Amino acid sequence: MTTETLSRNAELAGQFKIITLDEANSTNQQLREEARTGAKHGTVLWARKQTEGRGRNGRSWESPAGGLYASLLLRPGKNPAQIAQLSFVAAVSAHKALASILCDGVASGEVRAADADIRLKWPNDILLNGRKLGGILLESSIEGGKVDWVILGLGVNIERYPEGCEFPATSLAAAGVTGISAKIVLSRFLYSFAEDYAVWSREGFTPFRQLWLHQASFLGELIQARTESGTQEGIFEDLDEEGALVLRTRQGEIHRITCGDVFGIR
Ligand code: BTN
Repeated sequence: MTTETLSRNAELAGQFKIITLDEANSTNQQLREEARTGAKHGTVLWARKQTEGRGRNGRSWESPAGGLYASLLLRPGKNPAQIAQLSFVAAVSAHKALASILCDGVASGEVRAADADIRLKWPNDILLNGRKLGGILLESSIEGGKVDWVILGLGVNIERYPEGCEFPATSLAAAGVTGISAKIVLSRFLYSFAEDYAVWSREGFTPFRQLWLHQASFLGELIQARTESGTQEGIFEDLDEEGALVLRTRQGEIHRITCGDVFGIR
């Protein structure tokens, strides 16, 4: 274990309880079961691989050994309308963590500065050089109008990435990063998220909306948004206070997109 991991572990101790598994079907699924039986805020389930990894919109998430697959249980005392904000807060934290790893790679000469362009894609994808490096799956349980639990699942391609995806994927290794373990990626993410979660609890979404927009892909550009009710094209204008994508069509109409996938149109 490196000095970095040791000191970060010391700082993270007390905030998170990390449970490590050699294999899980899905860390989100397994943590749901723990949440239902009373697991505490701050419980983290981290698996070296998953057999039934899940992505957004019912898709699967390829999860061979060599990637990061972790889920974090939160019990925020907030109202249900604020919960979707957490996936944007986590995306900002993941961006910070991964940017710091790439920055170290640039400093040591293993990553070219031009290959370290890390951005966020609505709603909560992490892109590296325009390809998908990781994603976040947020699930929650609301009971009697109150939030019982929230699970934030984070997947990052470290050594390998899936081929043939509609939106092309990549990995840290493909950008030249070597010798980085899932444990270090997780530890850097938790370190950033602990701070960001405290700020969100105190100050709300506004600072994260700004940070997210600052790192957003396709902002101000023509995009295609594919939703359950069809496909819409227009300019990606903004992210609203609830995390919806604001799209302005060619006819000048404003649409709020709350669920779906976004593709750039060149
Ligand atoms: C997406 O971009 O579609 C979200 C992918 C989220 C994958 C992570 S891996 C850890 C956690 N467990 C899962 O089954 N999914 C999430």
